[in-house]
Amino acid sequence: MLMRASARTYIAVLAVSLVVGLPAHGAGEFPLQHAGNDVSNIASLQRGARNFVNFCMGCHSAQYVRYNRLAEDLGLSEDQVIDNLMFAAEKPQETMTIAMPEQDAQGWFGQAPPDLSLIARSRGPDYLYTFLKTFYLEPGSPTGVNNLVLANASMPHVLWELQGEQRLIEETDDEGHRVQRLEMVRPGRLSPDEYDQFVRDIVNFLDYVGEPMQRERIRLGGWVIAFLLVFGLFSYLLKEEIWKDIK
Ligand code: HEC
Repeated sequence: MLMRASARTYIAVLAVSLVVGLPAHGAGEFPLQHAGNDVSNIASLQRGARNFVNFCMGCHSAQYVRYNRLAEDLGLSEDQVIDNLMFAAEKPQETMTIAMPEQDAQGWFGQAPPDLSLIARSRGPDYLYTFLKTFYLEPGSPTGVNNLVLANASMPHVLWELQGEQRLIEETDDEGHRVQRLEMVRPGRLSPDEYDQFVRDIVNFLDYVGEPMQRERIRLGGWVIAFLLVFGLFSYLLKEEIWKDIK
């Protein structure tokens, strides 16, 4: 009886964690935009790493990522990593941690900025892309902004100088559905296309960070398929050879 009760509890916990653990794709009503990032694009990953270090690591860590692993995967020399990425560390074998104590962060923002090592896996690249593009002005809120996919986000719009400032417009379409869209009220330093690319590079970097092996897997996958094709061709020729007198 005891066994069965605990087995039931176990199954219940498993079921709940499966449901809770599901990616929060489309958590809000706002439709997610397609990130279109490509983890095999090294130049984009390099730009993404630089943007992440400069614009996000003031608050967010990526504690499972080592700088020397980055150097290797992103085709950077150790000196390049030290000069361009390692502002918060002394040695290349250190991980991308930050100095901000979590409790302070909680006090400042109401919500501690989460570690972003695995965020692309829990939220998905499209969510991250849409999140970084849909901050809009909301004068009454603590940060002066709000976000379309994370309502009442306690993260400020740290990229506003690049993107510009947007305001929310809510309308009803011909079929009576409520639609939300954002309108640029003050352009930023980047054009909309440049900003999209800027954000796509960061998302690409976070996607890679969430699963560093995926680049290797995609590369190996290509070889495996090429091998299977060649192998298939030879098997076919062999079969033709063996059966040619019997047909
Ligand atoms: C000034 C501090 C600060 C900076 C800089 C910052 N963030 Fe945040 N971020 C936060 C806080 C605080 C939260 C928690 C928001 C919440 O849960 O309401 C957060 C949450 C997030 C989340 C999680 C959203 C979710 O759905 O839970 C992502 C993703 C994120 N930030 C990405 C970024 C990226 C990418 C950058 C760099 C472009 C960045 N942040 C820069 C403070 C910051």
